[in-house]
Amino acid sequence: SLYILLILPGSTAMASPGQKVVLITGCSSGIGLRMAVMLAKDEQKRYHVIATMRDLKRKDKLVEAAGDTYGKTLSLAVLDVCSDESVKQCINGIKDRHVDVLINNAGIGLVGPVESIPIEEMKKVFETNVFGVIRMIKEVMPDMKKRKGGHIIVVSSVMGLQGVVFNDVYAASKFAMEGFCESLAVQLLKFNVILSLIEPGPVHTEFEAKMIQEVKQRECPGADPDTVNYFKNVYLPSSIDIFEVLGQTPDDIAKVSTSIVSSRPRFRNLTNPMYTPIVALKYADETGGLSVHAFYHMLFNLGPLMHVSMTAMKYLTCGCLRSRTISPN
Ligand SMILES: NC(=O)c1ccc[n+]([C@@H]2O[C@H](COP(=O)([O-])OP(=O)(O)OC[C@H]3O[C@@H](n4cnc5c(N)ncnc54)[C@H](OP(=O)(O)O)[C@@H]3O)[C@@H](O)[C@H]2O)c1
Repeated sequence: SLYILLILPGSTAMASPGQKVVLITGCSSGIGLRMAVMLAKDEQKRYHVIATMRDLKRKDKLVEAAGDTYGKTLSLAVLDVCSDESVKQCINGIKDRHVDVLINNAGIGLVGPVESIPIEEMKKVFETNVFGVIRMIKEVMPDMKKRKGGHIIVVSSVMGLQGVVFNDVYAASKFAMEGFCESLAVQLLKFNVILSLIEPGPVHTEFEAKMIQEVKQRECPGADPDTVNYFKNVYLPSSIDIFEVLGQTPDDIAKVSTSIVSSRPRFRNLTNPMYTPIVALKYADETGGLSVHAFYHMLFNLGPLMHVSMTAMKYLTCGCLRSRTISPN
């Protein structure tokens, strides 16, 4: 397929004939960074990766990790998923606007009692996690439909399938994308365009650090003392435990993405087998009572017990659970 125009001054990277052009959003850190690097380092050089980020001042970690693939199978471009202009400029800068694989990875989190979060902050989450992804898809999908080929990947979350206490707005944004993708995937099949979702559980990235920092700093104005207490002293310790015991690495998620880019993927790709029963619980009881009460019990009645068992699990498993992933195939 495809040739790419120079995107960054000084970068001479171009896709070679036969290489797939893969555009990834949010590559300055975490999952996006590792996905970009892993695909660019593909031994068979099957991909030309356009690793995008909203602020190129944050490029150093990516450039360092990309090593000698930078300027060869990996090029950099500016892209802010919240800006029509930025998205258009980036896609127009690609030769023939040809993108074979679009990976919508950019996303932001938000935790806290709903009554303490200004609507403006919630809108930012939807602007990025929902409209940011839709904006990208709107820009790239028509060309894919015309060409009768392409692959769109959306990094959703386990929280797109099961809500988690104090993550109400973030979970709502990921649920929104699940519904959007379920609807669009059917139409796209008619055009031979594949749509797939990646649903990670907790992953050790800046996301986690930002979440912990945010909880500690949040004053929670407007929330009553009991709610603030549940948030800071019940939810936060459980959340840290869960990250420590069940957290995967960005490389684990990147491996899933390389696997679904290189083969005919499944629609849904849960990356962490530990979450399969939680999702199953939801569908086992159509009244929804089972999962709501199970989560209530886990958090408020078994909280301290969970801390002890999570700590025990951490030492017993020596981290081996943390690196296990399900291969989508
Ligand atoms: N970490 C987890 O536990 C976890 C679990 C499930 C799903 N996910 C999902 O995985 C994806 C990646 O998250 P991560 O864990 O790798 O977090 P991360 O390290 O915080 O990375 C998020 C990336 O998104 C970028 N971004 C934010 N707003 C943007 C915008 N308007 N335009 C372009 N890029 C933007 C960030 O760029 P800046 O550097 O400019 O901020 C950063 O590169 C997200 O969609 C997240 O919801 C994460």
